[in-house]
Amino acid sequence: MDILKTISQMQKWSKTKKKESKTICFVPTMGYLHQGHISLMEKGKSLCDELVISIFVNPAQFGPNEDLDTYPSNIENDLLLAKKAGVTAVFLPNKDIIYPENFQTEIKLQELPQFLCGKFRPVFFSGVTTVVTKLFNIVMPDIAVFGQKDYQQLQIIRQLVMDLNFDIKIVAGDIIREQDGLAMSSRNAYLSISQRASALCLSKSLHMARDMVDQGEKNPEVIKLKMETFIGTFAETNIEYINFCDPETLEDINVIESETLLAIVVRVGETRLIDNTLL
Ligand code: PAJ
Repeated sequence: MDILKTISQMQKWSKTKKKESKTICFVPTMGYLHQGHISLMEKGKSLCDELVISIFVNPAQFGPNEDLDTYPSNIENDLLLAKKAGVTAVFLPNKDIIYPENFQTEIKLQELPQFLCGKFRPVFFSGVTTVVTKLFNIVMPDIAVFGQKDYQQLQIIRQLVMDLNFDIKIVAGDIIREQDGLAMSSRNAYLSISQRASALCLSKSLHMARDMVDQGEKNPEVIKLKMETFIGTFAETNIEYINFCDPETLEDINVIESETLLAIVVRVGETRLIDNTLL
């Protein structure tokens, strides 16, 4: 497994592989890898000859009061996990390599970032699309894999690739969960034992919503009210949003009559947790 720290090293690596007619799959991450990340790598590995991941905690996607400074990190363990997953190259740049002095460009979508998480994290998606654009130009993959757990991010990347004509196929990976249902996340490391128990309110309330829809409930407001009451019974929880929306446009829907995205964000203590399901 090659570890590449500069842009020229990474580009040279990819160009060499392309000359050898090798296809490249790419999984961008912010590290502190867990089984959710690994599942994307396994998916990628089955689709291409070479598997590249990046590990970069991207400052541009954190707001001023967010957790950039405390974001968990364990590069040594990440590299072990990556090697085990069959990664052939890790792009591991530092902040100055990605954002040198006098860096000026911002890539920003107009509509999709205005919904869901974008309402609460105003700089988040432009930070993501800017860094992913750079990473695509540096790694030059044929395929890139993103998790459905960050559903809005996935939709935004799909739109970005379409709008900017990147010759990259975007593949989605399923949400990987702990045995008790909690969606895996690097941020789960922040949770105390009691908060970890409260964190189950996300997956459990999504489950409850699915059951209600299965039993014929079509009104999002009725389901939302039930979810709010249920989540309120868990200690230290604070709902940021519960949204029923069109899975393509992310616009709110009033009646559940075709495939609907139910997306939810709950703060448990200080930790912001995100989850979703398709109804
Ligand atoms: P990060 O949170 O590290 O996630 C990297 C990838 O792993 C994303 O595509 C995310 O959707 C996926 N992922 C996270 N948890 C998952 C889970 N439980 N199941 C399946 N996939 C999961 O998302 C980012 O980093 C950044 O925004 C990034 C795209 C790297 C840009 O900085």
